[in-house]
Amino acid sequence: MVLIAAAVCTKAGKTIISRQFVEMTKARIEGLLAAFPKLIPAGTQHTFVETDSVRYVYQPLERLYMVLITTKASNILEDLETLRLFARVILEYCRSFEESEIVENAFNLIFAFDEIVALGYRESVNLAQIRTFVEMDSHEEKVYQAVRQTQEREAKNKMREKAKELQRQRMEAAKKGGKPSFNTSGGFGSSTVYAPTPSIIGDVTNNSNDVKPAYNNMQQKRTPMKAMKLGNKGKDVESFVDQLKSEGENVISSVNNNSQIGPKALTISQDIDNVHLKHEDKLIVRLGRDGGVQKFELSGLITLHISDEKYGKIRIQLENKDTRGIQLQTHPNIDKELFKLRSQIGLKQPHKPFPLNTGVGVLRWRLQSNEENLVPLLINCWPSEAGDGSCDVNIEYELAHTNLELTDVNITIPLPIGCNPIVGECDGNYTHESRRNQLIWSLPLIDANNKNGSLEFSAMKSVPNDFFPLNVVFGSKTPYAAIKVTDVILVDDESPVKFSLETVLNPEKYEIV
Ligand SMILES: *[C@@H]1O[C@H](CO)[C@@H](O)[C@H](O)[C@H]1NC(C)=O
Ligand SMILES: *[C@@H]1O[C@H](CO)[C@@H](O)[C@H](O)[C@H]1NC(C)=O
Ligand SMILES: *[C@@H]1O[C@H](CO)[C@@H](O)[C@H](O)[C@H]1NC(C)=O
Ligand SMILES: *[C@@H]1O[C@H](CO)[C@@H](O)[C@H](O)[C@H]1NC(C)=O
Ligand SMILES: *[C@@H]1O[C@H](CO)[C@@H](O)[C@H](O)[C@H]1NC(C)=O
Repeated sequence: MVLIAAAVCTKAGKTIISRQFVEMTKARIEGLLAAFPKLIPAGTQHTFVETDSVRYVYQPLERLYMVLITTKASNILEDLETLRLFARVILEYCRSFEESEIVENAFNLIFAFDEIVALGYRESVNLAQIRTFVEMDSHEEKVYQAVRQTQEREAKNKMREKAKELQRQRMEAAKKGGKPSFNTSGGFGSSTVYAPTPSIIGDVTNNSNDVKPAYNNMQQKRTPMKAMKLGNKGKDVESFVDQLKSEGENVISSVNNNSQIGPKALTISQDIDNVHLKHEDKLIVRLGRDGGVQKFELSGLITLHISDEKYGKIRIQLENKDTRGIQLQTHPNIDKELFKLRSQIGLKQPHKPFPLNTGVGVLRWRLQSNEENLVPLLINCWPSEAGDGSCDVNIEYELAHTNLELTDVNITIPLPIGCNPIVGECDGNYTHESRRNQLIWSLPLIDANNKNGSLEFSAMKSVPNDFFPLNVVFGSKTPYAAIKVTDVILVDDESPVKFSLETVLNPEKYEIV
């Protein structure tokens, strides 16, 4: 299979997220996706369409499509198998097939997409492996690679048998005068595993403070394999679009005239310098009601956005004071030695500039553990039965990491249906949402000066189990990881460059179960 891109788009062809595996501009991939729904013959149940240049293999996900764009020489059997895997990944990371949900989870989805491709999307690759991989550190990854190769060989053999079987069925069907169900033009033995050229295009055109990472493809020279041929000088890709155009699809004109993601596309409310860095930490925390950490997962990313070519050739000086065992990983095009020896982020090929006018994820990190001291905000919910069928509920919070400032904290407590809670003591405010059967405890700010608080209420006709799981949301501009950008310097003369920095801590999921 030669995969050009994996994307989620709306039924109208608007790109929500797309990962390209060949070199391609934003306009081109958007053009390809914009053209795609128009190619689907009305009222059909097909799962793929073709043009003279590409094949779209797709699966409707309610109002969206999961689409793989492949070359036509690609093996459609494998493509369909892979498509299913991609669709399951969406289900795994998103609660619904809503556009907003996809955007919100773009980060994890793109990582998972990469893992599918890196693993070679064989039949033997399953969701659990992808999940593990997304979570795994690089040492385990190496060990896993070895195991994987064996599995891959086995899978290939299985695939070959399956293909033979299908071929046989098709021939039989043809004999009986039935139409073959689809055209398998690709050779099974020729499929190639290749390293992805990362390139994400997120929908960053709206007025959101929350800028999604958008990695532009930075040419990856080291693996000149089959799929990469497409990207060579971008010529073949260009010809896809030309061909699409000549097929009567008005591709480019329907899209942003600008081939790059323009600075306008990155709408950030604060002051932005020509070199802008975003440090984003995401947390997934699940605390047990009786104490203990069931899950703690931090994922972080530093995104670089340069909007003046004068500052294309730079290095970023980091200071990592985090001693909690965070696993760091640089983008494949970043010079690993430089990072290891001097904590600097620079391109492997120092004479090359970073891509302009696009967000480039340069460093990501992860931390997973069940240690309680990693949990920034502890919440203790203690319902006790009063004997008359009611419960007295006592909830406390404590900010364990007092360097953090959490704003607009909402702690949502479920209530039994029809319950009218009688609130006694309450720090901050509370709202009883009777239609949703929940009590929202709101605290405008939790920080070092306001690190404890409690809420007490009683509820008729209830049992302790009714008040779980609690959910917590908050905003924060204080980062979790103690990783700091201290300087940005020019590669040429090491002179300092002015930069702006944005930090965000998002509780992607924070619950007490
Ligand atoms: C941008 O956001 C507005 C509301 O804030 C929404 O109505 C509009 O559909 C969004 N546009 C896109 C392209 O997502
Ligand atoms: C493309 O952009 C240029 C300036 O950036 C503008 O003059 C031109 O009208 C635009 N073309 C279309 C088709 O929007
Ligand atoms: C917090 O709860 C209040 C009260 O229900 C609500 O108005 C507000 O939108 C909530 N904030 C967030 C971030 O969910
Ligand atoms: C929260 O309570 C304070 C007083 O304790 C009040 O001034 C404020 O308006 C309340 N905020 C909301 C959003 O209800
Ligand atoms: C805050 O809460 C913790 C544990 O819940 C407790 O040990 C500590 O004494 C509290 N501090 C204050 C100032 O109430």
